[in-house]
Amino acid sequence: MTTRGSFGSQLGVILASAGSAIGLGNIWRFPTEVGRGGGAAFILIYLCFILLLAMPVMLCEFIIGRSGRSNAIGAFRRLAPGKPWIVAGIMGVLGGFLVLSFYSVVAGWTLHYTIASATGQLQGKEGTDFGAIFTAFVSDPWQPIIYLAAFLLLTHLVVERGIERGIEHYSKLMMPLLLVITIFLAGFSLTMPGAAEGIRFLLQPNLNEVTPGVVLGAMGQAFFSLSVGIGCLVTYSSYFSEETRLVKSAVNVCLIDTMVAVISGFIIFPTVFSVGINPDAGPGLVFITLPNVFLLTFSEMPFIGYLFSLLFYTLLLLAALTSSISMHEICTAFISEHFSQSRRKAATIVTIISLVLGSACSLSFGPWQNVTVLGHGFFDLFDFTVTKFLMPLGGLMMTLFVGWYLDRKLVEQQLTNGGSVSVRLLCLLMVLIRWVAPAGILIIFLNELFPIFI
Ligand code: PHE
Repeated sequence: MTTRGSFGSQLGVILASAGSAIGLGNIWRFPTEVGRGGGAAFILIYLCFILLLAMPVMLCEFIIGRSGRSNAIGAFRRLAPGKPWIVAGIMGVLGGFLVLSFYSVVAGWTLHYTIASATGQLQGKEGTDFGAIFTAFVSDPWQPIIYLAAFLLLTHLVVERGIERGIEHYSKLMMPLLLVITIFLAGFSLTMPGAAEGIRFLLQPNLNEVTPGVVLGAMGQAFFSLSVGIGCLVTYSSYFSEETRLVKSAVNVCLIDTMVAVISGFIIFPTVFSVGINPDAGPGLVFITLPNVFLLTFSEMPFIGYLFSLLFYTLLLLAALTSSISMHEICTAFISEHFSQSRRKAATIVTIISLVLGSACSLSFGPWQNVTVLGHGFFDLFDFTVTKFLMPLGGLMMTLFVGWYLDRKLVEQQLTNGGSVSVRLLCLLMVLIRWVAPAGILIIFLNELFPIFI
């Protein structure tokens, strides 16, 4: 039996959990969804779902993790021996492998764009077609896989060092840097000529664009952004101390994550509007539209264009790394504890499996474009399985487990640290966990199976 690590400080708990939450989901996926979903109206709905659905699931994960004191599967085995609840843990570890594999592909692209901006390749090219450059890069059989491997290696090196010396230490270094770059870039883009139109788009709700599909998209985004539903926070909270305040930590993580998502909107839309590009650009927003923006806006001021693009991709890379570490940890903790392996060996196994699965995802943009399973290429298949299936179903099971199966006393003890912290609105929290969150999640999930609203 290997000894379990633990976080050394409350700040470490918040920064590591916020690091897991803040990622490509905030800076890449959130603005894309906002652009498609009618700006401020989408943001309003998203905020409601964070509060009513995703935050209760986060609390459930914290309760399961800290009382189970084990990896995502081990925690269920300990709290409900011999019961089928373990399925939630198994889905979590499986989800961990899948999400790490496809996420690291996009993170590898980010690494490439960071290096390209550092070496000035995104700059000063008149009439450059960034769409063609992006397509040529992602469909190349080798290049993206090399960047994927490099990114996985970075993740591996942090996870291998353990909880306090690896995850906590690097979160404490990377998160402040990430927050400073975010605020700096937002300040910068807000002062650009024509930024007002972007700000209006973010602040003025256009309710006509809200369709049921947009509502459901906002729920999925809330889950993905807070990393809930696949046992990632069960794993992290198994390293929390008995003094960690669960409700306060959850509220802080939700606030920081939401702030970074909204500020990312304030970085991207004022810039995009100021050069007159359509905000509804989809997933290419960050890799195709933004390089155009950097080029167009700063053709007069090359150094500033250079700095802006370099800082932006560095921000994206840091955010991706603090998230991928947490995905890796779900699987590493399981393999190390379940098969009694050293952390180093477990981490190596996870990295190798993810490299193989990730390479399949990467190839699905190029030579394996026509290889499909159930009508999806590997990248889409993994993305779909995690965000549309494993996360909602896992979240639903966890709220039911904590709200209805676990002893109410144990749940309250966890929420109040054995009665030493008073939690205002405890009853309201219990209503959210028992009723509101499961009902809401059930609606998203059923809609994915039987699309009534699209
Ligand atoms: N929350 C991360 C993001 O926003 C993604 C993530 C999903 C991280 C699941 C861990 C587990 O990018």
